[in-house]
Amino acid sequence: MNHTLCFNPPVIAHRGASGYAPENTFLAFVKAVELGIKWVEFDVMPAACGEPIIFHDDELVRTTGHQGSVVDYPYSYLQTLDAGSWFHSRFSGERIPTLQDMLVYLHEVRMNANIEIKTQPEHEEQLVLRILEVMAPYWKSGQTYLFSSFSISALKLLRQHAPTCLIGLLLDTWRDDWRQVADELQCVSINVNADIMTPDRVQAIKATNRAVLCYTVNSMERAEALFHWGVDAVFSDMPDKIVRR
Ligand code: G3P
Ligand code: MG
Repeated sequence: MNHTLCFNPPVIAHRGASGYAPENTFLAFVKAVELGIKWVEFDVMPAACGEPIIFHDDELVRTTGHQGSVVDYPYSYLQTLDAGSWFHSRFSGERIPTLQDMLVYLHEVRMNANIEIKTQPEHEEQLVLRILEVMAPYWKSGQTYLFSSFSISALKLLRQHAPTCLIGLLLDTWRDDWRQVADELQCVSINVNADIMTPDRVQAIKATNRAVLCYTVNSMERAEALFHWGVDAVFSDMPDKIVRR
């Protein structure tokens, strides 16, 4: 396993502990802390004003009930939306967090983070630069920050502007040139959809001294099979269900 990454327990709370609290809201991350988890994953995208916010979908409707696209609204408006009620009425009024506020909290609780960058091509460089600006006070915080994105061009911009940051190549579908891309981006991990993982693929990645991470795994049986193949950690909505036996 790559010596720069350590996963103990071998699980990353996916969008926070999103099986128990509304995804990508503070409560999901508070829950991950309560469960003793050491890593969280969350999605970052830009509001219309350029503010990096923690949100997964391009559209607002699924988790706020509001029609419209995230990129069309400034954070001053997005922060008024209810991002909790869709999950359960007891989470009513929970807000969409900014990356800045999330970093303050994660630093307080000493939580490591996988920051997944979701971009649209026309906003990519602006978002990457803004993320790096917001993260500047945290580089030497003692926590580990692993960046990932489905957008190779966003990862290239990240590598260009932050030569020493940790990058994971995120793959929803397999690509045979993964090693070439990972070498070029100096990736320390390959983060792969569990549905396309095979023992041979795990072995090939491990042979390059990179961590292998798989998403999204919500059963211990599935996690055990992946760990047996050599997977280092899994992303889970219910991270307390995943323990290395
Ligand atoms: O980073 C792993 C996983 O979060 C990628 O897929 O759609 O849940 O962001 P998604
Ligand atoms: Mg994600």
